Amino acid sequence: MPFGSVKLNDGNELPAIGFGTGTALRDKDAAPYIAQAIETGFSHIDTAQIYNNEESVGVAIRESALPRSDLYITTKYGYGPIQETVRTSLGKLGLKQLDLYLIHHPRNVGFEFERSWKEFEKIKEDGLSRSIGVSNFNLEQLQSLVKTATIIPAVNQIAFHPYNYAENKGLLEYAAKHRIVIEAYSSLTPITKFPGGAVDGPINAAAKRRGVAPTQVILAWVKAKGVVIVTTSSSKQHLEQYLAVADIPPLTKEEIAAIDEAGAKGPPRTASQKAGRAASLALALAVSIAITVGIHTSFQSPFQVRNLHLIRFI
Ligand SMILES: NC(=O)c1ccc[n+]([C@@H]2O[C@H](COP(=O)([O-])OP(=O)(O)OC[C@H]3O[C@@H](n4cnc5c(N)ncnc54)[C@H](OP(=O)(O)O)[C@@H]3O)[C@@H](O)[C@H]2O)c1
Repeated sequence: MPFGSVKLNDGNELPAIGFGTGTALRDKDAAPYIAQAIETGFSHIDTAQIYNNEESVGVAIRESALPRSDLYITTKYGYGPIQETVRTSLGKLGLKQLDLYLIHHPRNVGFEFERSWKEFEKIKEDGLSRSIGVSNFNLEQLQSLVKTATIIPAVNQIAFHPYNYAENKGLLEYAAKHRIVIEAYSSLTPITKFPGGAVDGPINAAAKRRGVAPTQVILAWVKAKGVVIVTTSSSKQHLEQYLAVADIPPLTKEEIAAIDEAGAKGPPRTASQKAGRAASLALALAVSIAITVGIHTSFQSPFQVRNLHLIRFI
């Protein structure tokens, strides 16, 4: 069974899993990796101006020889005059129209949303992108953009995983109210960045029960939250595992609750955080020793002085 797609608030469809060309493929020739992803069954490709690989995404699109309608292409605005930048991205990708164009980060538009979003609305009206959206917007930033928008963003792409679910609940609720689809990136954080944390237990247990990989359980958890997955891999086996998530038995309410609860405890400390904590503990200890010695010395010195005084007079 394929992953399927979700309906956006502008009526367009977004494939519910995408292959990303950021992180590991930044500044690289992404074409062979995209070719592998397309061959494995991905149709949704995610890139960005700042990944500096839009040309190679264009090569992969052409080499796939697929009809344009069989692929879903997202790119993101990073810097420069907006109308000029979207045309440059289209040129690099070799496309007349994007499927989705995102503001990569609120700082890319100087946290000034009204004017920049008008430019994005013009991009949709001019047919340069079928849908428009944002990325890395927190609740307040999304609310502020929506307040003056004529076209509500179709998507907000954010870092989303069990360790930051609790802090994003309000954002998810607000997005659902406005039918803004949340796309998740870095969902595999519990494995790639924070192994050994509280969520490992419930994730591994759910994986064992189904005879699947822990990465598949994490992606099944993202899917269960109604969130679209943007992931990546250099390995065909991992790509196959990601797509097979559509076929594994859905997580139960209890399994989801156990992952949520463990995730709310936060990620484990990294080695550098542990070293930092050890250093601050050592510093606190040194300061308290110094203070104690200081107090002790200040209590002692009058005695010593007095004693010396006595000694002198004996
Ligand atoms: N909007 C934004 O600001 C933003 C920010 C970051 C990312 N993104 C987008 O999201 C995409 C995905 O981001 P991400 O890389 O952070 O996503 P992710 O899905 O959390 O991680 C993907 C990584 O997990 C590794 N992986 C897969 N299975 C594994 C396993 N069993 N054990 C250990 N590692 C495993 C893969 O490495 P292998 O190659 O070894 O499989 C791959 O590098 C990016 O490419 C980009 O398009 C957007």
